[in-house]
Amino acid sequence: MQKLIIKGKRNLNGKISISGSKNATLPILAACILSKNIKLQNIPLVQDIFTMIDLLEFIGLKIKILKKKNTLEVSNSDKKINTLAPYKLVKTMRAGVLVLGSLLTKYKKAKVSLPGGCAIGTRPVDLHLFALKKMGAKIKIKNGYIIAEAKKGLKGSIIKFPFISVGATENALLAAFNAKGKTILKNCAIEPEIKDLISFLIKLGANIKFSGRTIIINESINKTLKTNHEVMFDRIEAGTYLIASALVGKKITIDKINPEVIKTEINTLKKIGVKIKRNKSSITIHNNKNLKKISITTKPYPGFPTDLQAQLMVLLTQAEGTSKIKEDIFENRFMHVPELNRMGAKIETNNKIAIINGPTRLTGAEVMATDLRASVSLVLAGLVAENRTIINRIYHLDRGYEFLEKKLKSCKAEIKRV
Ligand code: UD1
Repeated sequence: MQKLIIKGKRNLNGKISISGSKNATLPILAACILSKNIKLQNIPLVQDIFTMIDLLEFIGLKIKILKKKNTLEVSNSDKKINTLAPYKLVKTMRAGVLVLGSLLTKYKKAKVSLPGGCAIGTRPVDLHLFALKKMGAKIKIKNGYIIAEAKKGLKGSIIKFPFISVGATENALLAAFNAKGKTILKNCAIEPEIKDLISFLIKLGANIKFSGRTIIINESINKTLKTNHEVMFDRIEAGTYLIASALVGKKITIDKINPEVIKTEINTLKKIGVKIKRNKSSITIHNNKNLKKISITTKPYPGFPTDLQAQLMVLLTQAEGTSKIKEDIFENRFMHVPELNRMGAKIETNNKIAIINGPTRLTGAEVMATDLRASVSLVLAGLVAENRTIINRIYHLDRGYEFLEKKLKSCKAEIKRV
């Protein structure tokens, strides 16, 4: 099994270009089921995207990967369609469940494996099913599969989500694409990735408007079903490298981003004392000392993202004073804490709260993590720690970070894969 070895305490200098967003690409790929011919640009070539491609090919779509151009050409001829998402393709990546809305609205039936729990929490899909049922789907759960049917097609409805879910909002949006009449989604997630999905669906001919947390999808008859789309930048990758720069950067520029989209993250780092210069499509971070404690809670967008909680925690181990992080999205997302403590951090957790006592000197150790963002937090810890850190189970990192070692190495980090 592959490992990453990092020699810490090197000052990083240089430029890191941010890849396309994994979490925007996944629902857009699920939306390709609804289309005919699509060209997608700025696709991150990471494992989750390859898993989604396998799933779409299993369903019957044709996909050409132009690796050097980070581009995909996707076509759906509607021939030999399999309205099934098997367990083997959904178990490693929950976003596989997003094909449910597309399959059901277009082909009137779908059988999709339940994604099951995962390391960061139970992660049910009840809200996804709630929305589809409101649109007229008949749904039963059998042998670990969601079996859904809408013999006469889905119909528009008013759906108010009891709480905010990114995936459920996306599945409902996809389902509304071919629904008859008007669909009104209330209390939606409004993550930038959802806005990217909406702009893609509009290019396909959907009639969608949104205001605040309400999204209105009017029935649209003349759809083009063909388009080109450039996926937005990965704001979580950008945030990860911003934090890396705050930890060990001498002068680092993060480019190919829209700083406006990540202003909560920028403001949070500024509060901690990180020196940030914001440009039009890049951010520069300078040598940082005297970091200060903060208290923060993870929230749906535009709040501070849960997907950056583990990385921020590493930064707070270097800040003066006692910081507090409340994880309000997932119930079990502190698995990085015992590993960080093994490296010398002083972090205590109690249910949703982590208390970080800083600053602490981190020292290298052999560590492993059980999910994507926790794994990358250990990479950040390795960069700031003394001596050598060995990170196991890096297949988690490969699910979501494109060219991680290459990007860090280009800024003079000592990191290698063995
Ligand atoms: C997406 C992101 C993930 C991010 C998360 C929160 C993708 C591929 N993944 O995941 O990286 O961490 O948003 O920003 O974009 N819930 C229910 N019932 C449901 C659905 C969700 O109880 O039917 C709960 C979840 O267990 C969790 C919370 O709602 O506690 C938020 O989850 P959700 O926003 O749905 O996250 P995902 O879409 O799975």
